[in-house]
Amino acid sequence: MGRCTMMQLMVFAILFVGATKRAESRLDSSFDKRRRSLLANGLGLTPQMGTADALVSTGLAKLGYKYVNLDDCWGNYNRTPEGNLLGNEITFPSGIKALADYVHSKGLKLGIYSSAGFRTCSNRMPGSLGYEEKDAKTFASWGVDYLKYDNCYTDGSNVTKRFPAMSRALRKVDHPIFYSLCEWGWAEPALWGNMFGNSWRTTTDINDTWISIMWNIDENEKYAKYAKPGGWNDPDMLEIGNGGMTKDEYIVHFSLWAISKAPLIIGCDVRNMSKETYEILTNAEVIAINQDSIGVQVRKVKKEGDLEVWAGPLCEERRVVLLLNRADKGSSPMTAHWKDIGIPSGTVVEARDVWKHKTLKEKLTGKITATVAAHSCKLFVLKPIH
Ligand SMILES: *[C@@H]1O[C@H](CO)[C@@H](O)[C@H](O)[C@H]1NC(C)=O
Ligand SMILES: *[C@@H]1O[C@H](CO)[C@@H](O)[C@H](O)[C@H]1NC(C)=O
Ligand SMILES: *[C@@H]1O[C@H](CO)[C@@H](O)[C@H](O)[C@H]1NC(C)=O
Repeated sequence: MGRCTMMQLMVFAILFVGATKRAESRLDSSFDKRRRSLLANGLGLTPQMGTADALVSTGLAKLGYKYVNLDDCWGNYNRTPEGNLLGNEITFPSGIKALADYVHSKGLKLGIYSSAGFRTCSNRMPGSLGYEEKDAKTFASWGVDYLKYDNCYTDGSNVTKRFPAMSRALRKVDHPIFYSLCEWGWAEPALWGNMFGNSWRTTTDINDTWISIMWNIDENEKYAKYAKPGGWNDPDMLEIGNGGMTKDEYIVHFSLWAISKAPLIIGCDVRNMSKETYEILTNAEVIAINQDSIGVQVRKVKKEGDLEVWAGPLCEERRVVLLLNRADKGSSPMTAHWKDIGIPSGTVVEARDVWKHKTLKEKLTGKITATVAAHSCKLFVLKPIH
């Protein structure tokens, strides 16, 4: 659902180049075919990254957080007599176009919000159902770069009709607009969303609890194979910095979202982040995993009770592996074997601990082992040595 927090600043990131031969050949066979099933607006080649204000002064923008997103409640209660949406005149006295110009002047991009219904979820402003073309034109004329499209106050018709209608309208305007579908995973949007949008929510709304992040990321994982450059699974925005979880739990949250190629949209007040929050959100090595050019969402490859191994490929023949201890108490030694991670047996690798920012001294053959505390994880990037 839309939230009535006003400014969710967001951000796009750097597209990494340099997929290796192996990665390319793996993709070659299906890549063109996969591209053809995508929304043809050229956006979302890596997952979108975002947050709330002060992106430039904090340095977050430089790391890739480039979208400044308004969520629900940005508009007036009613349309104008001509039937147009209008920014709330008290909150945005200069209008949304002026806001977009300002955001662009900072090198950032502006996102906006609407609903595939008669009203938005807050019921404080009109939705876009039946007004798709008019509203898409309005957004484009303001220079808006991103639309989150919610699913409240509908006419009861199928989401597979209402969400594509806005997609067609956005493609008719001459300004590219990233299209973020938010129907909460009801109609399995991973199965059809990539033809119409750049990302689709796979789950119910997130909240600032361990239960919520575990629930959402598990649901999201079921659709891993549908994520690819141009279209991403979206388990909802980040709760890091909102105070409901421990530092270790927030590190798990950021790690799982990063490896799942989820949007990184900051949901805390970035004008007033603690050092701990800042260190998590600005971990460039973890962000690089999220923005990796081959765009493969990591899978859960092994589960023994509360102990899980998540692993998947990165560019340049590297692999990312997450050792996750979901237990409420106690530390556990954990091991992931090359066969779990998808590394050919006999391969010698160098392991980088991306939270410690250290490369392990010993080279590894066959497995990686670590002790993982309760509600914590270890995250490694493994690079083969030839
Ligand atoms: C919506 O449409 C999809 C695809 O056409 C169909 O599989 C699904 O059953 C429909 N859902 C409802 C609630 O009508
Ligand atoms: C938080 O999310 C969990 C998992 O989806 C849900 O069970 C719980 O009711 C939510 N809590 C609130 C306060 O919304
Ligand atoms: C900044 O954060 C601290 C603690 O996280 C809080 O006590 C304080 O009220 C916040 N300040 C503002 C201006 O929001």
